Amino acid sequence: MKIHRTLFSAFALFMGISINAQTEHEMVVKANKPGAEIQSTMYGLFFEDINYGADGGLYAELVKNRSFEFPQNLMGWKTFGHVEVRTDNPAFDKNPHYVRLSDAGHKEKHTGLENEGFFGVGIHKDAQYHFSVWARLPQGSEKQEFRIELVNSNNDPVVKQVVAVTSSEWKKYQIVLTSPITDDKAILRIFLTSKGDIDMDHISLFPVDTWKGRENGLRKDLVKALADLKPGVFRFPGGCIVEGTDLNTRYNWKNTVGPVENRPLNENRWHYTFPNRFNPDYYQTYGLGFYEFFLLSEEIGSEPLPIVNCGMACQFQNKDLKAHVPVDKLDSYIQDALDLIEFANGDVTTKWGEVRSEMGHPAPFNLKLIGVGNEQWGKEYMERLEPFIKAIRKAYPKIRIVGTSGPDSEGDKFDYAWPEMKRLKADLVDEHFYRPQKWFLSQAARYDNYDRKGPKVFAGEYACHPKNGKNNFDAALCEAAFMTGLERNADVVHMATYAPLFAHVKGWQWRPDLIWFDNLSSVCSVNYYVQQLYSQNKGTNVLSLTMDKKPVTGQDELYASAVWDKNEKAYIVKIANTADKEQGVRVVFEGVKKGQLSDGTITTLHSSDLDAENTLAKPNTVIPEKAEVVMTDNVLSVKLSAKTFAVYKLLKK
Ligand code: AHR
Repeated sequence: MKIHRTLFSAFALFMGISINAQTEHEMVVKANKPGAEIQSTMYGLFFEDINYGADGGLYAELVKNRSFEFPQNLMGWKTFGHVEVRTDNPAFDKNPHYVRLSDAGHKEKHTGLENEGFFGVGIHKDAQYHFSVWARLPQGSEKQEFRIELVNSNNDPVVKQVVAVTSSEWKKYQIVLTSPITDDKAILRIFLTSKGDIDMDHISLFPVDTWKGRENGLRKDLVKALADLKPGVFRFPGGCIVEGTDLNTRYNWKNTVGPVENRPLNENRWHYTFPNRFNPDYYQTYGLGFYEFFLLSEEIGSEPLPIVNCGMACQFQNKDLKAHVPVDKLDSYIQDALDLIEFANGDVTTKWGEVRSEMGHPAPFNLKLIGVGNEQWGKEYMERLEPFIKAIRKAYPKIRIVGTSGPDSEGDKFDYAWPEMKRLKADLVDEHFYRPQKWFLSQAARYDNYDRKGPKVFAGEYACHPKNGKNNFDAALCEAAFMTGLERNADVVHMATYAPLFAHVKGWQWRPDLIWFDNLSSVCSVNYYVQQLYSQNKGTNVLSLTMDKKPVTGQDELYASAVWDKNEKAYIVKIANTADKEQGVRVVFEGVKKGQLSDGTITTLHSSDLDAENTLAKPNTVIPEKAEVVMTDNVLSVKLSAKTFAVYKLLKK
């Protein structure tokens, strides 16, 4: 790739062919006619606690089942000596279980417990870890002691520290440990080192170096990967977990705010949804809850888009309509949605505004969007959505409401949903498509004929799924080609988010995924770089780009779009060559005076191996490469290697 114009022209002259020889395509950009505005919400993120995305992932807690609330109260723990699970006089009413450590009964014996973490406890050499525990002395003694150890995967303790418990009341004790080693599979061990009993609850270990150094914080490398995408919107908390397998296990945002120790545990449906990827220890602690989601959106500069349950459990898992809340009993669900808006935007004197303020954010989060229902369908959804829309419009007329067209990219459910969305006047419709390469390539013109007067589109979950399930270059290239259609239709497509976002290499249930990680490091997929090339080059206005007067949506296996960035005064052209052959392209910028376009840059994503992917071991297998590109008389003339996505950026003088 990267044969620049000068080279190409010389070659053309030598061969005695004109620049317009049959191998070369001409694309025309109407450079002096900026069209539809590109929304600031374009190219965002969709977060769900799937694949250990939250607990065991983004949420930096290293201890699994820290509050002993898993249904098997000691899951994730090994105990030795005398350890008893109790619930009398608990520290936290919503998380009542705790452990009592008592003397082992012989001076040579020991009492204690150890935690296995999430596929191990990942520790880095010289990094500090913040250990904390709520403890009390049930016998009313003056002082008892225990010892904390980080133990490496060879069972050698590598750091130890003694902690004294000094009160018969529940109190938080904290220390900082520095790890002398790196190990992805360490354990946390606790030894009772004195004779009397100690009660313990909420045993926690966090890296000190979290995103922005926060306690109860997020994994820094993972947030950095998110921030580097410059996401326009941040949709949370899911996904199917919004719905729950039954309504009891739906995502209830009110359980996710307030002191972290008292946020009740919820099941995570991804622990059992795919029995071939079964993870019986997958629960939601809600340590990463709605406050943290709003804060994260703010810090990475994206519009928050919370999704609320619309009174329906997962429709895939429940054919019986009785699984859902009857339409005339939706009040508390609707109230939850209204309260959520108050939590985000309400004055500190309001009930929920005060909760937000007490958590550390008196200023409103300035919420503008809310989604009602995840991936619902049919009449049963519409009759529930309707009262939500009425109530939200009445209380908060400026909030934009996102409905959904269901799980399919086309077909009965989809065809029924869109007219209903128009009737109900949803502001945006969330479309989902997990489809193979062919589908993505065939859908580049998908939005060209959408109704411009109806609701706007939120491509809320999409990913190209090759048969082998890999995040390979082939899938990424097809996404890049498809996304030229999102860009070209910026007047109707207002938001787009790839899905799912995160996956732990040892704990995934669903793939492909945008960012993979283990306990120590992370890797951005090739698909991530496609998203990034779009989000970092999104421009402010669409420009018409045509080949033979038609949008470029697959002719000769080429896909293309163009934008103008009024802030940078730059023209940006994206071209995907999905063919097996190199293709010459001349891009003519119409309406720009001679000499007004500077030389610019070309950033390419290319691999000769369609199955190539970025892995933790080889993170840079396919990454964007930048080079300079030369302009002559407002014409960009390039050769695009087979299977290449290229982004050209040219500044206007
Ligand atoms: O992204 C994985 C799942 O796909 C989401 O939870 C759901 O909305 C869709 O079916």
